[in-house]
Amino acid sequence: MDIDRARYLVSGAGRGALDALPAALTGLDPVRLATELRRSFPPFEASALAEQVTLRAKARERGIEGMLLSPHGLEMMTHPGVAARRAARLAAAGLPVIDLTCGLGGDLSAVAAAGEPAAGLELDAPTALLTRANVPAALMARGDAARPPFALAGSAVILDPSRREDGPRRFDPSAFSPPWDVALTLARDAALAVLKTAPGIEERHLPPDAEVEFVQFGRSMREAALWFGAGAAVGLRRAVLLPAGVELTSGEPECSPQPVPVGAFVFDPESCATRAGVVRQLAARLGARLLDPQVAYLTGDAASFDPMAATFEVLEVVPFGVARVRQLLRERRWRPVEIRRRAFPVEPDELRRLLGRVEGEPIALLCTTIAGTRTVVFARKVEDPSRAERAGEKTAQGCRQ
Ligand SMILES: C[S@@+](CC[C@H](N)C(=O)[O-])C[C@H]1O[C@@H](n2cnc3c(N)ncnc32)[C@H](O)[C@@H]1O
Repeated sequence: MDIDRARYLVSGAGRGALDALPAALTGLDPVRLATELRRSFPPFEASALAEQVTLRAKARERGIEGMLLSPHGLEMMTHPGVAARRAARLAAAGLPVIDLTCGLGGDLSAVAAAGEPAAGLELDAPTALLTRANVPAALMARGDAARPPFALAGSAVILDPSRREDGPRRFDPSAFSPPWDVALTLARDAALAVLKTAPGIEERHLPPDAEVEFVQFGRSMREAALWFGAGAAVGLRRAVLLPAGVELTSGEPECSPQPVPVGAFVFDPESCATRAGVVRQLAARLGARLLDPQVAYLTGDAASFDPMAATFEVLEVVPFGVARVRQLLRERRWRPVEIRRRAFPVEPDELRRLLGRVEGEPIALLCTTIAGTRTVVFARKVEDPSRAERAGEKTAQGCRQ
């Protein structure tokens, strides 16, 4: 976004115009939206307002309301549920918080909402202007995080470096702004710091003096957050599942590393648990064991439930072969509505195509490799009865109200 557009949007005229726009504009396609706005506004203002209407509709789907946005800033913004949890952890330290790469203020607004004194720094001038309007409770400055205008000692710091758009998809320390080594130095200078990065970061890039959280929201892996300083447990790995607020750390008891044959139930861990390397801790929590030392599927003889794993009741286990799997599905009248795989070479869509159309009871196929043998577990997904009960209570309450 250019500076003139940002200046207009934060001006009284821009804010007033945005607030007064009829809600019905949101549903219009971009051409009709621009045409409608040009009836009441000069072209420059109509174009700026049209962009905000479109971006705000996208933001609303992610639970972000009332902010001034730019396309790139919205794309980079921390999910509000993730930002709120981070802000709560920072607030528990009772330190003033400085967001050194605050962008449009996703993290910064969560910190301000948590009631901590907050300051933001942003290199890009138009973004900094919008953020000042987005988070009026925070002290806001424009500048380079490498030369922060605030004293970091005695403060908690958030660093969420931007990644070069043309950079590789894999973690590349040279693709960040501020540079990765600068970000690490800044984080280590603060009393407490959290450095956000991609959840796919490889083990070899994880600093040994950090606690690392792998954060998932719903089904989507959001970030790896590296914590330094006060309250950070050096070397600890933590899986965080939101919005449930469930956590599991590498410090918790583990199951035996010895694998066991497939039992009556198989458990499939969520990505945050596999990324954090806490699968054996999850197994201990479920009363389960590994099927294979290299595979994250777990097994046990009793039904057990945890928000960090899906539970499946085992119906049949066979060595993989398309003809064999197809035959069994037809004989038992089972329809594979879900195909999951771990350490298995065939893509679920490809397997679905190979199996062809099958009618019958909906089941799941869990495809994996156990002790070198490609194996298919035919299974029925089982929901946690206590969660179903709670959901039922809520519905009943809703009906009574
Ligand atoms: C990933 S975004 C931050 C998003 C933010 N956490 C949020 O939730 O909205 C990174 C931001 O850092 C800014 N930035 C990049 N290099 C910087 C630097 N050296 N100093 C300060 N800000 C920088 C970028 O302009 C961008 O707005």
